Amino acid sequence: MDKESFSSESVDLRRENFKKLLEDEKNMIDKWLEELDFSSDKPVFVLDEEHEDKSYEAELIKDVLSDAMSYSYLSGGKKLRAILLYECYMMFAKRPHEELVKKFASAIELIQTYSLVHDDLPEMDNDEYRRGKKSTHVEFGQAMAVLTGDALLTEAFTLMSDIDSEDVNEYKGMLNAINYVAKSIGAKGMVLGQAIDILLSKEEEGKRHTEVLRSNEMFELSLREELWEDLVVGKTCKLIEASLVAGAMLAGVNNEVIELVEEIGFYLGLAFQIRDDILDEISTFEEMGKETGKDEDANKVTLISMYGIDRAEEVLSECVDKAKALIQMLPARREESLLFLFDVADYFATRGK
Ligand code: IPE
Ligand code: IPE
Ligand code: MG
Ligand code: MG
Ligand code: MG
Repeated sequence: MDKESFSSESVDLRRENFKKLLEDEKNMIDKWLEELDFSSDKPVFVLDEEHEDKSYEAELIKDVLSDAMSYSYLSGGKKLRAILLYECYMMFAKRPHEELVKKFASAIELIQTYSLVHDDLPEMDNDEYRRGKKSTHVEFGQAMAVLTGDALLTEAFTLMSDIDSEDVNEYKGMLNAINYVAKSIGAKGMVLGQAIDILLSKEEEGKRHTEVLRSNEMFELSLREELWEDLVVGKTCKLIEASLVAGAMLAGVNNEVIELVEEIGFYLGLAFQIRDDILDEISTFEEMGKETGKDEDANKVTLISMYGIDRAEEVLSECVDKAKALIQMLPARREESLLFLFDVADYFATRGK
């Protein structure tokens, strides 16, 4: 990578374009998501005129699930993980395969949406708003929200495994990517992070397991810090890592590059969550489209709760610097993507929503 490309002059110029590019790519992902159709495809028989109304009702019932799904993943959300997957794929792909990257990027957004639908449930974070509108469980009920999450997660895997290719290496890349995504979001990944988050913040849930920690304050802080990292790595870094790594795997890069991409995902993920925690403290509902000031009330373990906002800002900027240093080492085929990723790192530190 040419060092000149990172000079301050070109950085200023790129910043102007970065926001526009981010917006364009978000729109592209939204368009891809709009093409998905999870509505029931079984026709409802209209027996005769007398039964017509009932048939119509049956049709409606069958579409509640797909309505709840599209309500959750369309309109709203920054689509950042899909954008990361797309850019990482484009950075390395010799001959980009649009259908492939489209399905994987869409799948990553379905997974992200599933995680948020469940995260907002009353027994989890109990959040009534998401992406500027009522949360899925408020709009459709708790049972439907659980099922919506289940369906989004499952359909993500249908999408990722439903691609034709004539290239055996591409199939290998797909299988590796699917396996990586699955491991990242499962029992040792995102779900584990969510479990730690809940066990540490909800006394009733975690009491049996954390009584010893709670009874010894000295011990508590160092262990809390360790658990905080596990929590963030799981609930946030893993899906961000998986988005980047899946893009790289689909493009067929070697293991050395995968490890580098993984490490970039780790630092970007930490930065992303620290900024989320800071925004919870300093931002507003109008700006974020979700309630703020909730982490403290919910007793969440964050860097802010342990060390205050200044320390959180410091760690955030260390993470962004580390990510940027690593990004510069990537052997990109397409320089625009590399520069885009570099700007994403700064954006993660400063984003307003
Ligand atoms: C929210 O992620 C969940 C966290 C890991 C903090 P985003 O802030 O990316 O949410 P959307 O997808 O844009 O709504
Ligand atoms: C959510 O983290 C992480 C996942 C959904 C996996 P948060 O609980 O901090 O996200 P927000 O603040 O509700 O968006
Ligand atoms: Mg949460
Ligand atoms: Mg939450
Ligand atoms: Mg949060």
